[in-house]
Amino acid sequence: MKIFLDTAEIDEIRTAARWGVLDGVTTNPTLFAKVGGSYDDVLEQICRITPGPVSAEVVAEDVEGMLREGRHFATLAPNIVVKVPMSEEGLEAIACFAEEGIKTNCTLIFSANQGLLAAKAGASLLSPFVGRLDDINEHGMDVVRELVAMVTTHNLGTEVLAASIRHPRHMTEAALAGSHVATVPFKILREMIHHPLTDTGILRFRKDWESVQAAGRDRTHAAAEA
Ligand code: E4P
Repeated sequence: MKIFLDTAEIDEIRTAARWGVLDGVTTNPTLFAKVGGSYDDVLEQICRITPGPVSAEVVAEDVEGMLREGRHFATLAPNIVVKVPMSEEGLEAIACFAEEGIKTNCTLIFSANQGLLAAKAGASLLSPFVGRLDDINEHGMDVVRELVAMVTTHNLGTEVLAASIRHPRHMTEAALAGSHVATVPFKILREMIHHPLTDTGILRFRKDWESVQAAGRDRTHAAAEA
C-alpha cells in the first residue's frame, strides 16, 4: 500500500521523505488554510520534494470553474493530480480532465456507488472518507473494502485511496482491505513508528550498554592502580 501524507506543511513532508516512506501528498482547502500564503507556491514546493502524486483541490463548484482551476494546477508540475469533489459537476469535470490526460482524485466519496461512478468517469484515484463515516456511526472501512473489490473485479483501472484516516489502526485496516493508497496526517504517521515496548526496549539496551562500559572502565582503572 502506498502512503501519502495528508498535509500542506512542508516540514512534515520533508521529514516523511527522509524517513523513506513518502509516496505522495494530498492537500485540501482546510489543510492549506493552516499554512497560508500562495497555494501555487506550496504545491510547487511539495512537488519538488516528492516525485509521487500531489493532489491539488479545486474549490469551484461549476464545471467551467473546476476545469479552469484544474488546468492551471496541471501546469505547475507533472506530478499534480487534480482533486475534484464528487458531484454532478465534478463527474463532468473528471470526464473532461480524463480526455485531456489530466489525472484526477475524486474526493468526498462516502459510498461505493459514488466511487464506481467516479471510476467510470475516468478518475485516477477514488478517495473514500473513512473517519468522517465512522464519525456518523457508519463503517467507513466497508466502503474501502467494497471499492477495492469493484475495482479489482471489473478491472476499472483506478486506485482506491483511503482518506480521512483518524488513527493508526485505520492504516492497518486499509492495508488489509487491499487499499492501493492511504493518506495519513503526519501525527498518525509518527504514531505508527512508535510502540511503548520499542521505546522502553531502546532505553533498556542503552542503560545495559552504558553499565557494561562503566564496569569495563572501572576494571581498567583498578588494574592500572594495582
Ligand atoms: C484527503 O484527501 C482528505 O482531504 C482528508 O483525508 C480529509 O480528512 P478529514 O476528514 O480528517 O478532514
